[in-house]
Amino acid sequence: MQTTVMASNFAVRIEGVDLSEPPDDAAFEALRAAWMQYKVAVFPGQELEDGELLAFASRLGPIFKHIQSTLHTGEKDVMYMSNREQKALVQGELYWHTDQSYTPKPVFGTVLYGIEIPKEGGETCFADLAATYDTLPDRLRGRVEGERAVYAAEKPGHKRRVSLSDEERKKIPPVVHPLVRTHPYLGRKALYLSPTHISKIGDLPEADSEELLAELTDHATQPERVYVHEWTPGDVIMWDNTSVMHKRNHFDPGERRFHKRTGFYLPDTLSTPF
Ligand SMILES: [Fe+2]
Repeated sequence: MQTTVMASNFAVRIEGVDLSEPPDDAAFEALRAAWMQYKVAVFPGQELEDGELLAFASRLGPIFKHIQSTLHTGEKDVMYMSNREQKALVQGELYWHTDQSYTPKPVFGTVLYGIEIPKEGGETCFADLAATYDTLPDRLRGRVEGERAVYAAEKPGHKRRVSLSDEERKKIPPVVHPLVRTHPYLGRKALYLSPTHISKIGDLPEADSEELLAELTDHATQPERVYVHEWTPGDVIMWDNTSVMHKRNHFDPGERRFHKRTGFYLPDTLSTPF
């Protein structure tokens, strides 16, 4: 296993690993440790059946089930995300967010496997939220420390990729999480930022809350804290939703883009953000 760090102490490229063949326990632990340390891990050159993708992810935690169960279009819990597929439709730009932050026990790791990639655009960008927290100016730090925020699946001004049904909406009312989150294994702190989902910070009036959210987002997305991934078919990326947020850049709708996605939860005792 060869590792190359691609951004400022964040995002690691891991070569020499074939995810279709289960690594032994020592190799697997090394891989998991590198992923948690660097928050985003890229495994290039993979060729995986759905079952192999699931087998890999399930070794890292209980397999993620999307609240919108209709989005599971592949084998069992693999979501097919394509601009040709009506169910899990992927179009254009997707703004900064942290996966499933609007649920009581959000997904820990997301695993995305690139199959068809547009020639231009459609990059996935990651912002390091642990570095964001560590570098907050005192003025902002004082405003987030010990604070809580409301995370909602539907926030005015942010259209969901696939609309919620009434039944789904009832299942996921907005939730409150700490705005500064402690990593369940490493103990480090990170800003739990998801601008697409945070609808209110603390007791702030809406306009002040949005203003603070914009300031935090601006700090988090400075180039030195961002890794931009330009996809090559066969890339598998795995990211830690406790420590990064991500977005997708715009791409030409005339080009095909197709990814498979799965993910895994934390064990139940650690799965509520703290
Ligand atoms: Fe996402």
